Order: sequence, then structure tokens, then C-alpha cells
Amino acid sequence: MLTSTRELLETARRNIFAIGAFNVYNLEGVKAVINAAEISRSPAMLQLHPSALKYGSSPLVALCLEAAEAATVPISVHLDHSTSVKDIDRVLQDGVRSIMADGSPLPYEQNLEFTRNMTRLAHSYHAIVEAEIGRISGTEDGLTIAEKEAKMTDPQQAVEFVKATNVDALAVTIGNVHGEYKSPPRLDFPRLEQIRMLLDIPLVLHGASGLPAEMIARSIQLGVCKFNVNTEVRQAYMQALKDEICGQQEKDLLEVTGEAIAAMQDVILEKLELFGSVGKA
Ligand code: G3H
Ligand code: 13P
Ligand code: ZN
Ligand code: NA
Repeated sequence: MLTSTRELLETARRNIFAIGAFNVYNLEGVKAVINAAEISRSPAMLQLHPSALKYGSSPLVALCLEAAEAATVPISVHLDHSTSVKDIDRVLQDGVRSIMADGSPLPYEQNLEFTRNMTRLAHSYHAIVEAEIGRISGTEDGLTIAEKEAKMTDPQQAVEFVKATNVDALAVTIGNVHGEYKSPPRLDFPRLEQIRMLLDIPLVLHGASGLPAEMIARSIQLGVCKFNVNTEVRQAYMQALKDEICGQQEKDLLEVTGEAIAAMQDVILEKLELFGSVGKA
């Protein structure tokens, strides 16, 4: 059933587990998330990647909303990492009630201004807003410790930012990176703990692909109640397509897409298990 992100995150926070938010781009991705969530009786989020909107905005949104409504477990639909007023406005009009207004590439004051405006707009639709301060990037290799720390979320600034923008959830940067971790991941847990003590809103961790089980568990204990997963699911999809198409046998289109869905589903199931949401629907 289509459920609000607020309800999913609040339930997860109260019961100390987390919601998996999986980036989706097409029908196969949507099916993989819903299948995995239903098999494991887990709530989950269908997370529209902004690049997917370029490919088929309103039909893709409609597909996600319809799939969420038809699901037998609680599912919300969310727009990820949007820096575009136009996209945010479009998906709100199309019925999405959960967005990430991502002003993190901007200087702090501009991020604050952008986020405040987008929050005002989203709240007029009764939508929930996630924002980010600090800057999650791709691999952090090549940066000094000081450069890495400068990109991390400052706990005091987080408090000021949340108060000034009125956002509902905050994505924290504590050493997490998008894509693969080129060196073993190191998360700044004392920083997370400090943010948790100062802020009473749901915290989100991006870049969950590549994070080991114990770091995920510790993050949940310290208040993270949403994890974003993209890369590992995309990789499973592409690998399955390659294996199917390059194999010896001639394959039918539906066989190939079926295998791709199954491969993504397996990754999603593993993540739902790690997030502790299995059996919570
Ligand atoms: O929101 C997701 C980011 O764009 C990272 O995705 O690392 O799989 O490209 P990627
Ligand atoms: P990964 O690609 O590392 O899983 O990160 C996903 C993400 O944060 C999407 O917003
Ligand atoms: Zn992200
Ligand atoms: Na990652």
C-alpha cells in the first residue's frame, strides 16, 4: 500500500530499524523492489533517481505510485537528490509526496535558501522533505583527512540548518560515499552520535552500497532510519543483462528482463535484512 515516508521513517525510528530506499529507473527496478519487499514482508521506498526523470518523468512516477498502491506491504515513493525546482514542482504535481531537495553542491547560504524554498513548496502539498548539509561525493580517495572532514556534516550547523529550513529529515555526511568505496569505508560515528543528540528528526545515510553489515547496524543504533542504495542494484542489473545476452543460448526478451529483476531482487533482499526491516510490514 502507498504509505507516507513520514510514517515509514517514524515507525523505523521508534523500533530501531531502517527503511531501504532503492533508486529505480524503469519497470524492472520497480518490480525488483516490490517483489523483495513483499517476499520479506518489509516496508521499502521506491526512490526516483533524478537522471531517470529525464528518461520518462510522469510515466515513471505514475508507475511507481501505482506499484506502491498495489503492493501488499507499505511502500513510499520519493524523489532523490533533486537540485531542480522544475523537477520538484513536476513530481509534486504528479502525486509524489516525498522529496530530497539537494542544495548540498551550493555554498551553505544558498543551500539554506534553496532548501527553505523547496520545503515551503513541498509542505504546501503535505510532502516530506529530506535535505543534506556537508557534501557526499563519489570516491573520496586523494583527499587529505582535513579535506574529508571539511565535507562532513557539522553538528551545530545541522541544528541551525534544520531550524531555518524546516526540513523533515536530514542526510548526514560522516565519511559515506556514493558508488564503490575505493578504500575500506570509515564512518565518523562520534559525529553521528553528536548529530543524533542535537537533532530530533529522522537521519538518512546515502551511499549504502559497499557498507559492511556492522557499520549499518551501528548507524541504526545511532539513529539512522533510512539508507539509500543505488550502485549495487544497478550493477546486479547490468551484470545479469550481460550474462544473459552474452551466454551461449539465444534468449527471449522477457527471459532476459526476468533474470535482471531476479538479480536486483537478491541484492535488495540482502539489504532489507541488514536494515532490520524484514517482517516489519
Ligand atoms: O544518488 C545517487 C548518486 O548519483 C550515486 O549514484 O554512484 O550509482 O552513480 P552512483
Ligand atoms: P550508492 O550508490 O552508494 O548505493 O548510494 C546511493 C545513494 O546515496 C542514492 O542517493
Ligand atoms: Zn545519495
Ligand atoms: Na556507496
